[in-house]
Amino acid sequence: MFGSSTRTALAAASLLTVLGHKSAVMAQDNSNAVVVDGKTFVLNGDNVSYQFRVNETSGDLLSDHFGGSLDGSMFDAPPVEALGGWVGLNGRFRREFPDHGRGDFRIPAVRIRQSEGYTVTDLRYQSHDVIQGKPELPGLPATHGGEDDVTTLVVHMFDNYSSIAVDLSYSIFPKYDAIVRSANVTNKGTKNITVEALSSFSFDFPVEDLDMISLNGDWAREAHRQRRKVEYGTQGFGSSTGFSSHLHNPFLALAHPSTTESQGEAWGFSLVYTGSFSVDVEKGSQGLTRALIGLNPNQLSWQLGAGETLTSPECVAVYSDNGIGGMSRSLHRLYRNHLIKSKFAISDRPVLLNSWEGLYFDYNESTIYQLAEESATLGVKLFVMDDGWFGDKYPRTSDNAGLGDWTPNPERFPEGLSPLVQDVTDLKAGNTSTKMRFGIWVEPEMVNPNSSLYREHPDWALHAGPYPRTEQRNQLVLNLALPEVQDYIIKVIADLLDSSDISYVKWDFNRAMHETPSPSNDHAYMLGMYRVFDTLTTRFPDVLWEGCASGGGRFDPGVLEYFPQIWTSDDTDALERVTIQFGTSLAYPPSAMGAHLSAVPNAQTGRTIPVTFRGHVAMMGGSFGLELNPAELHEDEKAEVPGLIALAEKVNPIILTGDMYRLRLPEESNWPAALFISPDGAQAVLFYFQLRANVNHATPWIRLQGLDPQAKYTVDGKGPYSGANLMNMGLQYTFDSDFGSEVVFLERQ
Ligand code: GLA
Repeated sequence: MFGSSTRTALAAASLLTVLGHKSAVMAQDNSNAVVVDGKTFVLNGDNVSYQFRVNETSGDLLSDHFGGSLDGSMFDAPPVEALGGWVGLNGRFRREFPDHGRGDFRIPAVRIRQSEGYTVTDLRYQSHDVIQGKPELPGLPATHGGEDDVTTLVVHMFDNYSSIAVDLSYSIFPKYDAIVRSANVTNKGTKNITVEALSSFSFDFPVEDLDMISLNGDWAREAHRQRRKVEYGTQGFGSSTGFSSHLHNPFLALAHPSTTESQGEAWGFSLVYTGSFSVDVEKGSQGLTRALIGLNPNQLSWQLGAGETLTSPECVAVYSDNGIGGMSRSLHRLYRNHLIKSKFAISDRPVLLNSWEGLYFDYNESTIYQLAEESATLGVKLFVMDDGWFGDKYPRTSDNAGLGDWTPNPERFPEGLSPLVQDVTDLKAGNTSTKMRFGIWVEPEMVNPNSSLYREHPDWALHAGPYPRTEQRNQLVLNLALPEVQDYIIKVIADLLDSSDISYVKWDFNRAMHETPSPSNDHAYMLGMYRVFDTLTTRFPDVLWEGCASGGGRFDPGVLEYFPQIWTSDDTDALERVTIQFGTSLAYPPSAMGAHLSAVPNAQTGRTIPVTFRGHVAMMGGSFGLELNPAELHEDEKAEVPGLIALAEKVNPIILTGDMYRLRLPEESNWPAALFISPDGAQAVLFYFQLRANVNHATPWIRLQGLDPQAKYTVDGKGPYSGANLMNMGLQYTFDSDFGSEVVFLERQ
């Protein structure tokens, strides 16, 4: 039981090394979380087993199983026969970490170009370690947990021809049926090598029909769920934008064609990364389906000198036999408890008002204060001053100047921000004694050419030699791969937060990366960005940080490690939001979603929706807020807002900590509904919507899920009714017009 290899990253966790033991070796505390029998490895969760083995002949790793629990007796799969044809054994096996160039014609998980030019590798099992707990991932966001929460298996592989070493790390969180994998490549030779492709997770499914589910969209239309059949050949998606993007989310689900929201097997793969990524699903000639998720090979080309290592981001894989909903709930729980580090992860979030859609760039010290005052009257607890407050020589009065110069606009704020912050934080929310908090918008990774920063440091902006620097929204991206840029951002933001009582930061990012100096710059940028996030959130743990990238352009687990909430979409139309928020919840906990009640007609769609429906949709997000100018509200809307705020505050603890059941989906039904159940099962809240008026047709009953069939529940004070009746028969609500909505409370007796 001594480590054959000790690396600093392992230092925090206790190490148990097993070198080809024949007997089963159990992990200590987590009983059978990791079982090693000879050279067969099994990871066991409460309802999942994941098994792979070393092929004794080739030293390759072969996948056996990822699905429902095995009973501990190892099953020896019959050997794969080399039949006629051009696909050799490697192409017929289910390979655990498929390398390149030895007769497996499917997409590899790793491709390395050696100095001689070839890209063949022959990675064979060497040894493994079992670690109680989970080592950190150097420089990258990662799930975390103590020795009781998680056990890690590290498999060391080595290519004798090139001296390339690969460590595959598997961490099992048994309670969440989650397996987290990452890979690192170390150049143990003397010549440079280039990592051209490196997947975080790769899994070869057996021959079975599968559907793949992904989230796609665009700006202001994020997270639209797409489900399609996996066909022979390759099908995939990814981001080459330099950020995880609105276009495709770094998330993949696979499910049997018969799997529904509440029944059947589903696998979810969620990449803990904010940069360009790639998802490939390939059904090979033999009918096996390979799923790969990781860094985008087109933006990698990562050179490793002698002794250097590249660590991949990690990918969380969850398994559920309770349908797509069960898969989502596992991810939600894991992310709430073992990813998001902020102290606000599951604590009450103040109801906020954000100035953007109310005033846009058009404000000064007194008009912004008026907005804060009006918000306080309505009961808002946090006032957020969005874009438009900064820029001295190049004032930010529109989107064509100022980014990079984080000094208050002297015309708008002659004495700086402190007097405003003081005045706002002296306000009291509604009739309470709670003091208002002050929040601010920043976009520190960007620069406008119209700025002092750009005049001083034109080389800090991303550029590729002499090529024109294409502007988007009149701005360029600072190159966070450069340490001096990271240091500058850390300093200006730290100075801003030190300068006054700012308790919330909305960190925005509003364009893609175009001309980059090299393909590998994308990943180097991410490492720099994570350093900035880590430094600032560690230094300012009491600040509530919100991520944003023109809405949900960076709604990913990488951001969530540092920022507990993300602005879900720039589309604040409540009808669109139902689809976007339900879609986002496929992979991300509702606690992470920022959602605001905005004015009508809606700024993005021109649609007019009743204030109640708008409020109800927004309070399904962990961070509920208003995004409007209260002075412009109709009287009857204004009268409703305090009640909606009170309701949002009542449901918020359940939204933040509870389990979400998507009872009916907006893309499938005119009556989408979701149930949130508190962790102890004592309280639940049902959101039930009617999108369009239903003329001369019966309204369906809504059957609840996740309740205790034996227990009795009151429903908005009525009843009690048994859990069995509520789940098997359900509830019925009727509405007489478009955009009907109900928020219903259940209490267990
Ligand atoms: C982005 C954000 C918006 C707002 C504007 C300000 O679009 O998503 O919420 O902050 O920037 O410029």
